[in-house]
Amino acid sequence: MNRSPRRRVLAASLSATAAVLAAAGSVLLTAGSADAATTLGASAAATGRYFGTAVAAYKLSDSVYSTILDREFNMVTPENEMKWDATEPSQNSFSYSSADQIVSHAQSHNQRIRGHALAWHSQQPGWVSSLSGTALRNAMLNHVTQVATHYKGKIYSWDVVNEAFADGSSGARRSSNLQNTGNDWIEAAFRAARTADPAAKLCYNDYNTDGVNAKSTAVYNMVQDFKARGVPIDCVGFQSHINAQSPVPSDYQANLQRFANLGVDVQITELDIEGSGTAQANTYATVVNACLAVARCNGITVWGIRDSDSWRASGTPLLFDNSGNKKAAYTSTLNALNAVPPTGPTTGPTGPTNPTDPPPSSPTTPPAGAGCSATVTLNQWTGGFVATIRVTAGSSGLTGWTAGVALPGGAAITNTWNATASGSSGAVNFTNVSYNGSVAAGNYTEFGFQGTGVGPSGTPTCTAR
Ligand code: XIL
Repeated sequence: MNRSPRRRVLAASLSATAAVLAAAGSVLLTAGSADAATTLGASAAATGRYFGTAVAAYKLSDSVYSTILDREFNMVTPENEMKWDATEPSQNSFSYSSADQIVSHAQSHNQRIRGHALAWHSQQPGWVSSLSGTALRNAMLNHVTQVATHYKGKIYSWDVVNEAFADGSSGARRSSNLQNTGNDWIEAAFRAARTADPAAKLCYNDYNTDGVNAKSTAVYNMVQDFKARGVPIDCVGFQSHINAQSPVPSDYQANLQRFANLGVDVQITELDIEGSGTAQANTYATVVNACLAVARCNGITVWGIRDSDSWRASGTPLLFDNSGNKKAAYTSTLNALNAVPPTGPTTGPTGPTNPTDPPPSSPTTPPAGAGCSATVTLNQWTGGFVATIRVTAGSSGLTGWTAGVALPGGAAITNTWNATASGSSGAVNFTNVSYNGSVAAGNYTEFGFQGTGVGPSGTPTCTAR
């Protein structure tokens, strides 16, 4: 979508205001907009992003935990339940019950799922240690195929390969049993994942890659090579475990942007920031603002809900205290999200700060008149599709909307996000959910759905409500 110069100026001045507020230590002030959303997930969704958390299956029965989870978050990552040791405890014998519990909880609460992680040197089951060479390579590929197939159609993005590069200045691959099967093990894993679940975004995920450094540059070079050779990769995850030894690099945003400029999405996948009070709150705002300033930063996941849920609990690195109360870091995060104009990222693909971003894939939005207009962007493959619908407000703005599509015979919707569908086949109407009904004049919001068969073509209808 082309943005007017006026909109760009507004976006720039709002984010400048947010930066000044943060710098003044005033991050606890409520952000300006009267209709600012009041949860992390809704506020992120209003910018076209998600806000997620790591989830442990055994905590879902804790009502303090699940109440916060279901109120605040619209993306979940199983903290341990999808790892190799959890899902394939003995070779070719798969165990999905804990991960399935998280997936069904997420599906029944309108949360999407980041799968984590298909191939990793850590948390491998014991039987893997007796394998090497071709036997290990095949076991790894079988694992990727089986797990990605089990969750086919249910995963927003997969961490296909986790932590495959060494720390330090070498830029080398991490030495591991998987690396010992041959340097092409990463691309082999990505190809297997794409074949098993073509709708999932496929990510490479790592830590100590948050700034421009030898390790992140090695990952960057790999991604560039993958894009050049057609190896399927869609996104890069930045874990972002922040503490005094690993502060937020000054070039954090620039690093996200250089990856985005390669034509991949970027995601903050395991955010936690050790500390307390205003300092911690300001650091959270810095990280959130960096994502918001990068059009291809899809969303942010924090690595747990309450401080006591953290793998680094003694560093109190999360957004809720041990009792589930919101911390200052929560408020600064919410305010940073709400400081963005209510629809779409701060800088779109054609925005002034991302001159090298690839062109947008969405079609040109037709004039909306006083009501609204809608366009569809389709990712179609043999047997299935993901459709993204953009609803653009006309000259009066919107307080609610319905967009309609006609699905060809045999097509069926399996999953919808950021809208409520009237049915799953034929003529289907999608109505806004609570947090995206209001769209200012000329602005847009997006929702999506996934299905089997052939996706909708033509221009969707749009009605203001
Ligand atoms: C951690 C979990 O939080 C812990 O519960 C578990 O004991 C070890 O793994 N990088 C990753 C995550 O990709 O999977 C790790 O999660 C944290 C570091």
